[in-house]
Amino acid sequence: MCGIVGYIGFREAFPVIIKGLQRLEYRGYDSAGVALMNGAMTIYKKAGKVSDLLNYIDGKPTNGTAGMGHTRWATHGAPNDKNAHPHTSNNGRLSIIHNGIIENYGPLKEELIKRGHEFHSDTDTEVLIHLIEDIQQKTGVSLEEAVRMALHEVIGAYAIVILSQDNPDELIAARKGSPMVIGVGEGEFFIASDATPIVEYTKNVIFLNDNELAIVHRDKLVVKTIENIEQTPYIQELEMKLEMIEKGGYEHFMLKEIYEQPRSIYDSMRGRIIAKDGFISLSGLNEYEEKFKNAERILIVACGTSWHAGLVAEYLIEDFARIPVEVEYASEFRYRNPIITEKDIVIAISQSGETADTLAAIELAKSKGATIFGICNVVGSSIPRVSHAGAYTHAGPEIGVASTKAFTAQVTILSLVALSLAQKKGTVSKTRLVELLTELEAIPGKVELALQSNEQIQVIADRFKDSRNALYLGRGYNFPVALEGALKLKEISYIHAEGYPAAEMKHGPIALIDEQMPVVVIATKGAILEKIISNIQEVKARQGVIIAIVTKGDTEVCKMADYVIEIPDTEEALVPLLATIPLQLLSYHIAIMRGCNVDQPRNLAKSVTVE
Ligand code: G6P
Repeated sequence: MCGIVGYIGFREAFPVIIKGLQRLEYRGYDSAGVALMNGAMTIYKKAGKVSDLLNYIDGKPTNGTAGMGHTRWATHGAPNDKNAHPHTSNNGRLSIIHNGIIENYGPLKEELIKRGHEFHSDTDTEVLIHLIEDIQQKTGVSLEEAVRMALHEVIGAYAIVILSQDNPDELIAARKGSPMVIGVGEGEFFIASDATPIVEYTKNVIFLNDNELAIVHRDKLVVKTIENIEQTPYIQELEMKLEMIEKGGYEHFMLKEIYEQPRSIYDSMRGRIIAKDGFISLSGLNEYEEKFKNAERILIVACGTSWHAGLVAEYLIEDFARIPVEVEYASEFRYRNPIITEKDIVIAISQSGETADTLAAIELAKSKGATIFGICNVVGSSIPRVSHAGAYTHAGPEIGVASTKAFTAQVTILSLVALSLAQKKGTVSKTRLVELLTELEAIPGKVELALQSNEQIQVIADRFKDSRNALYLGRGYNFPVALEGALKLKEISYIHAEGYPAAEMKHGPIALIDEQMPVVVIATKGAILEKIISNIQEVKARQGVIIAIVTKGDTEVCKMADYVIEIPDTEEALVPLLATIPLQLLSYHIAIMRGCNVDQPRNLAKSVTVE
């Protein structure tokens, strides 16, 4: 959460920072602010979006070739002007932007107040800049040294950038537990929470490591540990292209990302399978083949949509590889003293690779000797770096806060994991493997067909846009799909929606059903279709309105359902990759019709770097 941008070089810093903040707005949009260095330090900050900040600044001076900016997702302190970053020190000569949480800010603040510091916000961040100033004043050390000393005193997570009136040609940045990328140009440097603000200026980047500090001048970058040991930073080339992070003619990122799925699913399996030969290769998995083969169980940890992908994986891995799987919310797992042994494999799934709870769950499992396999989308993010092995989903940047293409890419990789394990363990025959992989290869084309229901889905969306509640039902592989469909609707349209295993409905949710209640049922071809038909009848008997997702050619469900959306026929295990598509579109259209901001839904953030 929170996006940070810094710039020092020969360009005007303001447009670089503003454009960067707009790219990072998916990380939080409660307030925005900038600090610009032009002889003196100028700070502008405002509650609301970057566009509100721009309106506020309109006509005011914005000169300077060094500066920094912040877009906030509020943790400590309400989302108002005074809590917006940058925050300044007591004498106003230092300013800071921060992504993360300073957990021990309370006692530090008390101590600083006793020492005469006056605070102007309710944030944890402001404490850190006062602390740095205090150390500098007390000891007379350089700013760099004072930052280092202060960071030894704070507990928590941070990616920070600091500007000083007294060192106008320098930015100091540091990270621990929150992401930070430095773009390396010629005579200029960029700092950001991810590479999106940087990609149009340079492809050369450094991913700062935890406990590292960067001292950045126009023509020089020095990276040190907070123990003051100089590091040789590893400069790598970004694969990201500018068009990947632009809307490309679509009205919203979410819609663009929904439509990108034929491509992103293809990209996530590209080079990893040769269907006709029954060949699968996931290098990270091959490396830990023996561990996986001997695993007595696999634990999956994730949050949000990634957790739903984990649930699909439970079905896939147990079905094909016959290894017991437990799927855990990372936030629960980390605090409940779980039993973990050296024989366990932990699969951590995360689009951003930065989710704080997932990272903490990994650290816990690692400390007990488990082997960590990370499945992430953002290259170079924290989770891949702390995992023993893993696989990138290669879905490309996902900017819409509600996850779409990252989910289907995760499910694709997890299908490959399940089939690869099955192959290694000999739990599926070669013929069956060839069949499954051939079908997997056909999925991008079938997603293309599923997307053709868009107009029909718009009609259904119009009928249900004013609903107050919705129920999503599925069984087997379609149970996680029901959960994901409901999550999409509630995230972006603010309609209360619940996903449920269809048969469980009679133990509670059935009481909610009346003629006002839309019930979305995923009733595709498969072993338990007859069972789900009975569940549909139970809903119909209580006047519920059924929207059914069915397999093309269905002749049974369509007789009972009020609305029917067809998806192409496929292997039962691969249905989630298709059935999710119409549910994404349904939530998108309903949200648009209700006037909601689908790319930046209220209170949410894409990358949840606080627990
Ligand atoms: C947030 C996002 C979700 C995402 C979840 C987990 O809640 O809004 O879209 O599924 O975090 O994020 P991760 O990056 O770990 O997949």
